[in-house]
Amino acid sequence: MFNSNFLWGSASAAYQIEGGQFADGKLPSIWDEYAKVPGNTYMDTTGEVAIDFYNRFEEDIALMKEQGLKAYRFSIAWTRIINEDRSVNKKGVAFYDQIIDGLIAAKIEPIVTIYHWDLPQFLQDEYGGWENRKIVEDFNQYSTILFKYYGHKVNYWVTLNEQNIFTELGYLKMLHPPNRCNYQTFIDVNHHAFLANAQAIKTYRAMELTGKIGPSFAFSPVYSASVAPTDVIAAENAQELLNWYWLDVYLMGHYSKASLNLINKLGAIVSMTQEDRELLTNVGDFIGVNYYQTTVVQAPSSNFVEKDINFNTVYKPQINVYEALFKEAKNITLEHTDWGWAIDPTGLEITLRRLTSRYNTEILITENGLGAIDILESDNKIHDQYRIDYLALHIEAIKNAIADGSSVIGYCTWSFQDLFSWLNGYKKRYGFIYVDRTENDVKELKRYKKDSFYWFQNIIETNGGN
Ligand code: BG6
Repeated sequence: MFNSNFLWGSASAAYQIEGGQFADGKLPSIWDEYAKVPGNTYMDTTGEVAIDFYNRFEEDIALMKEQGLKAYRFSIAWTRIINEDRSVNKKGVAFYDQIIDGLIAAKIEPIVTIYHWDLPQFLQDEYGGWENRKIVEDFNQYSTILFKYYGHKVNYWVTLNEQNIFTELGYLKMLHPPNRCNYQTFIDVNHHAFLANAQAIKTYRAMELTGKIGPSFAFSPVYSASVAPTDVIAAENAQELLNWYWLDVYLMGHYSKASLNLINKLGAIVSMTQEDRELLTNVGDFIGVNYYQTTVVQAPSSNFVEKDINFNTVYKPQINVYEALFKEAKNITLEHTDWGWAIDPTGLEITLRRLTSRYNTEILITENGLGAIDILESDNKIHDQYRIDYLALHIEAIKNAIADGSSVIGYCTWSFQDLFSWLNGYKKRYGFIYVDRTENDVKELKRYKKDSFYWFQNIIETNGGN
């Protein structure tokens, strides 16, 4: 059963919805720069206009209110808040004041993500962004400003969105900015991000703010491709390197011994000072979980069908830094989305159980949803029964995990409105609200309610549905 104050929500991120690329003094982010290079994104789409939330937020908040949302998770663009001389851009601050106040007036709890991948380009140029320890200070300065302006009215803060994904795609797979592939750099960048996360949490508490704060993580539970012990060891390695490496730092305040050993085995080291060790003990109040799919792993010598990766049309040859330890396999027992993501509601139950058993922490599901090609019919309806089926099964999985002892405080679907998908343009849609635009035609950006909008409205009304 869900508590009466369960946060039925939905989510988004600044670059994916706002547009208003340089409005009111906003600076360029690494995504503004990356997306303008031909070939980096699907059909060269960018967030220049996105779905124009910058100008249409009132209409969108009215739709959230109509649906009955209890919470809305959105991110703040660092580039709207800080000027290049580190002073505050008051117009940027005022923009998010309007969003937060609008949500509160609509009785919707704002959940603010401090960083959802849109690093100011000047920090990348000045000292390499996340590659340099200086980022900890800049991130702390930026977070402190947000706490100062919004801390008295925002009760839920997500420090970093999916550190595991932005570092993997940016520093191993060359699919996100800054388009690098180097394992040692990846480890350094992660260490700096851990410190930045811990420092922001420390600052939040020092300011005696009373809300909850924590990072959100893309958790994909690892399954072994078979019961052969070699595959099981491969799965252990993957579970350690793809999950516990981050989560132990976030929730226990230190690196797991096993992940440090494996990192060394792969030729990298974590450069840690005594001060770092102390700082990392500042752990969050909850863990945000973004859940989309499970991962199947086999030994390097096994021959199960490998997972096909289908990043729409943006796909670059991958270098697998983990190849000596494990490789991925396809889960042939499951159906997959059009983008090859395994549909596995039970995987969410497993996620919640594993997190509860290892950390016994509060969990906020900060993202979960189905990316699909939606069709706007001639009568302006969108019949997305496939999304309803997907979400219903995942909600059932949460119910089961709660019954088994998990403490889940909320569920934010990805996403409320259709939005810009980093590598898939506007083809891969997730929202309850259809936004009428294509990759190369912005049209009028009209909003239409999908069937799933009404279905989720009922889920909220009945606190979990029948
Ligand atoms: C998460 C991100 O990784 O997945 C979102 O936090 C993203 O920003 C979502 O949009 C879905 O990914 P994609 O590639 O299907 O848009």
